[in-house]
Amino acid sequence: MVNARYAVIGNPVEHSKSPEIHTAFAQATRQIIAYQRLLAPLDKFRETIDQFRAEGAAGCNITVPFKRKAFAFATTLSARAREAVAVNTLRFDGELVFGDNTDGVGLVRDIECNLNFPIGKKRILLLGAGGAARGIIGPLLRSKPAQLAIANRTFDNAVQLATQFQALGNICVLSLENLVEHQFDLVINATSASLNNSQLPIPAACFVAQTLAYDLMYGKVDTPFMRFAKAAGIQAVDGLGMLVEQAAEAFFVWRGLHPDTAPVIRQLKQNL
Ligand code: ATR
Repeated sequence: MVNARYAVIGNPVEHSKSPEIHTAFAQATRQIIAYQRLLAPLDKFRETIDQFRAEGAAGCNITVPFKRKAFAFATTLSARAREAVAVNTLRFDGELVFGDNTDGVGLVRDIECNLNFPIGKKRILLLGAGGAARGIIGPLLRSKPAQLAIANRTFDNAVQLATQFQALGNICVLSLENLVEHQFDLVINATSASLNNSQLPIPAACFVAQTLAYDLMYGKVDTPFMRFAKAAGIQAVDGLGMLVEQAAEAFFVWRGLHPDTAPVIRQLKQNL
């Protein structure tokens, strides 16, 4: 049987866990696929994909920094990709290239199904207003929280994002200085502050005893945001579950099957 070929395309890409995740999904669902890492030079994203397609590939995942370029590359887009203005999953359908974004649904599934934390009626604080934040706002608002407040280092970036999504639910912008006057049930860190190990200027006063602190980042050790939340006595988790859930949704886009995610999340945690 011919292998269906997939890849994760990014720069850098060598640390991506997508090959391990998709190989595990394929084994569990008895699909015969080959999945590789593909490093695209920063100025050769299109050429790298064209070459991969020419070799007969069936689709690919897109990671940093190419999600917007993948959005422009797709010839048809899912509603959630259009909303996010970013694509993390491409499926090659003959001449057509279908672009989707599974990040937001991956986050919501991890929070609601794996962590057993229903988002409906909750007060959410979203830290950050970049690409990662944009990709998750639509799916979060569709879970009908009481409120979604965005706080960001650059206030105007948060205002722009909130304006774009205001038709979908109760969304507002708060300044980081005023957070101390508000309390939240779910605080999501979608900034890239963890990457340079910097602490976000948020007060512990915005947590309540049952608050869940969720960092989209993950790694061997807790991020500064997670350490801060744990020190304040609340539950804090990283984005490993989201990573596996967004991959499972991409697998569904390609193969039409929903793989079981729990064993893969366990396996990845062990191997970190
Ligand atoms: P990504 O695609 O990962 O979201 P991005 O689009 O560059 O990357 O956005 C990074 C986000 O993290 C932004 O919200 C950024 O704030 P600004 O809008 O002010 O740039 C935020 N960010 C990055 N480093 C930060 C830091 N050290 N402290 C606070 N916020 C930070």
